[in-house]
Amino acid sequence: MTANDGDSASSGAMLDGARATIEDYLAEERLFPPPDALRASALVNSEAIYDQAADRESFWATQAHALTWFEPWSKVLDWTPPFARWFVGGKLNVAYNCLDRHVEEGRGDKVAYFFEGEPGDQRAITYAELLDEVGRCGNALRSLGVERGDRVAIYMPMIPELPVAMLACARIGAVHSVVFGGFSAEALRDRIEDAEAKVLITADGGWRRGQPVRLKASADAALEVGASSIEHVIVARRLGEAVEAVSMSAGRDLWWDDVVATKESHCPAEAMDSEDLLYLLYTSGTTAKPKGIMHTSGGYLTQVAYTHKYVFDHLPERDVYWCAADIGWVTGHSYIVYGPLANGATSVLYEGTPDHPGRDRWWSIVERYGVTILYTAPTAIRTFMKWGAQLPKGHDLTSLRVLGSVGEPINPEAWIWYHENIGGSRCPVVDTWWQTETGAIMISPLPGVTTLKPGSATRPLPGISAEVVDEAGARLTRGGGYLTLSEPWPAMLRGIYKDPDRYEATYWSRFPGRYFAGDGAKIDADGYLWLLGRVDDVMNVSGHRVSTTEVESALVDHPSVAEAAVVGAKDDTTGQAIIAFVTLRAGVEATAEHGEMLRGHVAGKIGAIARPRTVVFTDDLPKTRSGKIMRRLLRDVAEGRVLGDTTTLADPAVVEELRTRATEQANEE
Ligand code: PRX
Repeated sequence: MTANDGDSASSGAMLDGARATIEDYLAEERLFPPPDALRASALVNSEAIYDQAADRESFWATQAHALTWFEPWSKVLDWTPPFARWFVGGKLNVAYNCLDRHVEEGRGDKVAYFFEGEPGDQRAITYAELLDEVGRCGNALRSLGVERGDRVAIYMPMIPELPVAMLACARIGAVHSVVFGGFSAEALRDRIEDAEAKVLITADGGWRRGQPVRLKASADAALEVGASSIEHVIVARRLGEAVEAVSMSAGRDLWWDDVVATKESHCPAEAMDSEDLLYLLYTSGTTAKPKGIMHTSGGYLTQVAYTHKYVFDHLPERDVYWCAADIGWVTGHSYIVYGPLANGATSVLYEGTPDHPGRDRWWSIVERYGVTILYTAPTAIRTFMKWGAQLPKGHDLTSLRVLGSVGEPINPEAWIWYHENIGGSRCPVVDTWWQTETGAIMISPLPGVTTLKPGSATRPLPGISAEVVDEAGARLTRGGGYLTLSEPWPAMLRGIYKDPDRYEATYWSRFPGRYFAGDGAKIDADGYLWLLGRVDDVMNVSGHRVSTTEVESALVDHPSVAEAAVVGAKDDTTGQAIIAFVTLRAGVEATAEHGEMLRGHVAGKIGAIARPRTVVFTDDLPKTRSGKIMRRLLRDVAEGRVLGDTTTLADPAVVEELRTRATEQANEE
């Protein structure tokens, strides 16, 4: 089954549910025009930019000219749907654009990253220093036999060596595949195997909520069986003496300090084709197998640089920028590494959690570095709301100018709280809609132009064409439907690694000629877009995508489980929470301890992000007469809603039992 086929009944029902939510959103009628002071100094402060973008190709060519190209392109776009090539024939190097040109133009002493470790260690890294370190790492990779086009897996905490490793790959033309440090050994192994990575770059570990996270141990477990393509493992030292010595496999494992730090920094940058692969990033779809999303060089860098500059109204001489995501997700790739560095930004890079050692850690960081732009996710904002406004009040946050949101729909209440308590009612909140697949921001306000409506991502950016369509694919100018992208864009995914058929089926088959994002959206009387969440079997937990099927596979992988169905239920903090309905094999007792063990089993198979909030044991699952599990009904049960039509159920008694079980379970929590 592909992402979007088959389950259209449930998609329709999702839209119904989403409409109820949107009515709540629309009850919020306050409008926020750009503040005068910000508009006056903004890089863009007039609608004219939308008109300029009417000629899309020439508009994107102008944006691409902001980069340094070794050789010019011969054609802006070659579009053979659904395959696009941007800036055809152009040659550039992404790392050169992120580093060398700033240094060559005399900005080598500018800070690229203010790194702050969770234990409190601080380090400012200039562009010149970053360039040197990237050169050394590039030379180290070359010395290990990594060549253009080879894949390098990266599994690291949020330390400077992570962007260094990515940029080193970009410099020598290798393709990186960063695996989020919170993923399990098994998830790492799957990704290494799919990409056939030659080298793994990791660290002994990192700090999280005051505790060491032993990444090298996980990496060792990943490499114990399979993952045989890995020839070498480079290990950065982060925990050092704080933990017991990590085991190093002779001949395979090398310390960063031995193999990178000893190399010379001069490392010529490869002239890459605009369409050469820059990276793979795996994301969950509707099957158990994650998709290796392919991003290339010229178009990707063009759009991440353009969006970072205009969406955040970023000026390198003025701003200190902080995207508080993890580099292991696309937000970090595009808006901690490539976009900001291409624009010569000074960024904050923070290793740890927001509540260590106190719940005001973020606000102390904003104050310490004078952060002017903060980009985070609604789930974090809702957590801060719970912790209380007194925490940000204890810090001077007056440096902030622009606030950003990403990853899930932001509810108006959280938007207003963010605006008032973090932004002092003076900073526009840019709600940015995009995906791993889009590579860069697609729908977002421009802070000096757009009148904001809390809860709406507003309009497609200049150069982007997003449309809402109905079930039959007809364009809607009002009301709810499916969000599609009707024209190619420079940072678009170029495919799913080694699986062009899945690429076509997943994104381009539901509405021919259109990219279907998998999201529902509503368009209001002013043409503003309101994102309604996923309409497929993908959950959004704390702004991260988790596939229901992947969690189900992890559950049925356990010998005690006969059958499992997983749904995402609304959660006040994380957006959605994972609820698993599980039927056990005969003879296994459905105890609370067993539920706990299964939650841990899923976390072990995939990563903590996929740990179900609740496991509900049931003797049977609600199925249609043709045997299809009725997820919509399970979602209703999980959210305690009045149940919809149950007449198609094979055995209606199942639902009553489930409801009782789910309620009992909720009481126990
Ligand atoms: O459902 C949308 C939601 O996140 C999905 C993409 O997830 P991922 O590829 O992990 O990338 C997250 C960060 C870019 C989308 O299909 N989403 C993302 N941003 C928003 C959003 N939903 C509503 N509003 C947003 N601003």
